[in-house]
Amino acid sequence: MTKIKNIPSALFSFWVLLLTQASTLATNEENTRVNNSCLPGERAALLTLKAGFVDPKHRLSSWEGYDCCSWSGVTCSNGTGHVVKLDLSNTYMTNDSKLYPFPDFRYALGGEIRSSLLSLRYLNYLDLSYNNFSYAKIPHFIGSLEELWYLNLSYSYIGGRMPPQLEVDTKGELIDFLDFISFDLSGNNLVGNIPEEIGALDGLINLNLSRNKLSGFIPRSIGNLRSLESLDFSNNELSGSIPSSLADLTFLSHLNMSYNNLSGRIPSGRQLQTLNDQSIYEGNNDLCGFPLPIECSGSKITSQSFVFENKNSHEFYVGAIIGFAVGAWMVYAALLFNKSWRVAYFVFFDNMYDRLYQNYAEIKKKPVTRKMY
Ligand SMILES: *[C@@H]1O[C@H](CO)[C@@H](O)[C@H](O)[C@H]1NC(C)=O
Ligand SMILES: *[C@@H]1O[C@H](CO)[C@@H](O)[C@H](O)[C@H]1NC(C)=O
Ligand SMILES: *[C@@H]1O[C@H](CO)[C@@H](O)[C@H](O)[C@H]1NC(C)=O
Ligand SMILES: *[C@@H]1O[C@H](CO)[C@@H](O)[C@H](O)[C@H]1NC(C)=O
Ligand SMILES: *[C@@H]1O[C@H](CO)[C@@H](O)[C@H](O)[C@H]1NC(C)=O
Ligand SMILES: *[C@@H]1O[C@H](CO)[C@@H](O)[C@H](O)[C@H]1NC(C)=O
Ligand SMILES: *[C@@H]1O[C@H](CO)[C@@H](O)[C@H](O)[C@H]1NC(C)=O
Ligand SMILES: *[C@@H]1O[C@H](CO)[C@@H](O)[C@H](O)[C@H]1NC(C)=O
Repeated sequence: MTKIKNIPSALFSFWVLLLTQASTLATNEENTRVNNSCLPGERAALLTLKAGFVDPKHRLSSWEGYDCCSWSGVTCSNGTGHVVKLDLSNTYMTNDSKLYPFPDFRYALGGEIRSSLLSLRYLNYLDLSYNNFSYAKIPHFIGSLEELWYLNLSYSYIGGRMPPQLEVDTKGELIDFLDFISFDLSGNNLVGNIPEEIGALDGLINLNLSRNKLSGFIPRSIGNLRSLESLDFSNNELSGSIPSSLADLTFLSHLNMSYNNLSGRIPSGRQLQTLNDQSIYEGNNDLCGFPLPIECSGSKITSQSFVFENKNSHEFYVGAIIGFAVGAWMVYAALLFNKSWRVAYFVFFDNMYDRLYQNYAEIKKKPVTRKMY
C-alpha cells in the first residue's frame, strides 16, 4: 500500500517525461515526409494489408500508385500526411429488401488482417464493419494501435473471446485498448465472459457488444466507465444480476440489457432512474424493480450481494482502496492539467495487476504515441 502514497509525484514525472519525448519524436516523424503526401512506410503497410485481404469485388482497386492518401477508404492528416482513418466498411447495400440493412456480403473483404496495420501509428479510426473474416479472432495487435479511439468490427464475422485489453502478446508488447472512445463489436460470434478489465476503458463513450454469444456475469468494473453514454449488451447469454455499479454511470443515456439471462434487482439511482423504458430489460430470466412492473420480493438477492459473493474478496478490497486513491488523485490532477486523468489509470493498473507492473518499463519505452494531452 505504500506505493499509493507516491502516486502524485511518480505520476507527475512520468507525465513530464512523456510530454518532452513526444515533442522530440513528432518533429523527427514529420521530417521524413516526402512530397507533401503519403508517407512511403505507410504506403507499404497499406499494400501489405491489401495483399492479406481477399477482395472478390476489387473494392481496393484504387490502392495503387504513389499517393496512398487518395486511395479509397484512406484518410490522411492534412497537417502531417499520416494515415489517420481507414474506413473499409462494406457499404455496398443490396437491393434485396429482405437483407436490409445488411449489405451485400459478396462485396465483403475477407482473408487476413495483417499486422502491417501497426505501421499506421497515427491511425485513430478503423472501420471494418460488414466484412467477412470467417470467425477469426480480433487480432490482438489492434490494441497496440495507440492512437486508435474508434474501432468498428460490427457484423464482420469475427469470433473467439473478447481480449482483455491489457495483456502481453508473444513479443512481450503491451496490448491495451485504453484510449478507445467508441467500440462496436456487435453482431459477431464473440464467446466467453466480458473481461473484468473492461473497466479500464475509462474514456469509452459508446460500447456495443450486442448480438454476440457472451456469457457469464457482467463485470462489476463496468461502473468505472464513467464517460459512457451508450451501452448495449442486448442479445447475448449474460447471466447473474446487473451490478449495482451501473448506477455510477452518470452520463448513460442509452442502455440495452434485453434478451440475456439476467436476474435479480435492477440497480437504481441517479441516471438509471431516467431510463424509464421496459424494453431495455425485456427477454431476461427474472429481473425485478424499476422500470419493470415486477416488484422484488424480500427473498430476492440484491445485485450488490450477488456480485460480492462471486468476487475474490481480497481483490475487491485492494481494488476499492486503489479506486479511492486514484479517485482522489484524479480530482487533484484535473486542477493541474487537462485530461491527465488517463495517466491515473496507468497507476491504477500498476497497482491492480502485477503483470502490468512488470511491464511498466514497456510502457515507458513507447510512451510517445499515447494521447495524453
Ligand atoms: C515528388 O513528386 C514529384 C512529382 O509530383 C515526383 O517527380 C518526385 O519523384 C516525387 N518525389 C519523391 C521523393 O518521390
Ligand atoms: C483536409 O483538407 C481538405 C481540403 O482542403 C478538407 O476538405 C478536409 O476536410 C481536410 N481534412 C481534415 C481532416 O482536416
Ligand atoms: C438493383 O436492382 C436493379 C434492378 O433489379 C439492378 O439492375 C441493379 O444491378 C441492382 N443493384 C445492385 C447493387 O444489386
Ligand atoms: C464468409 O466467408 C466464408 C469463407 O470464405 C464463406 O464460407 C461464407 O459463406 C461467407 N459468409 C457470407 C455471409 O458471405
Ligand atoms: C459500425 O458500423 C455499422 C455499419 O457500418 C454502423 O451501422 C454502426 O453505426 C457503426 N457503429 C458505430 C458505433 O459507429
Ligand atoms: C448496437 O448494435 C446493434 C447491431 O448492430 C444495433 O442494432 C444497435 O442499435 C446498436 N446499439 C446502439 C446503442 O447503437
Ligand atoms: C439462465 O439462468 C438460470 C438461473 O438463473 C439457469 O438455471 C439457466 O440455465 C440459464 N439459462 C441459460 C440459457 O444460460
Ligand atoms: C433493446 O434491444 C431490443 C432487442 O434488440 C429492442 O427490441 C429494443 O427496442 C431495444 N431498446 C432500445 C431502447 O433501444
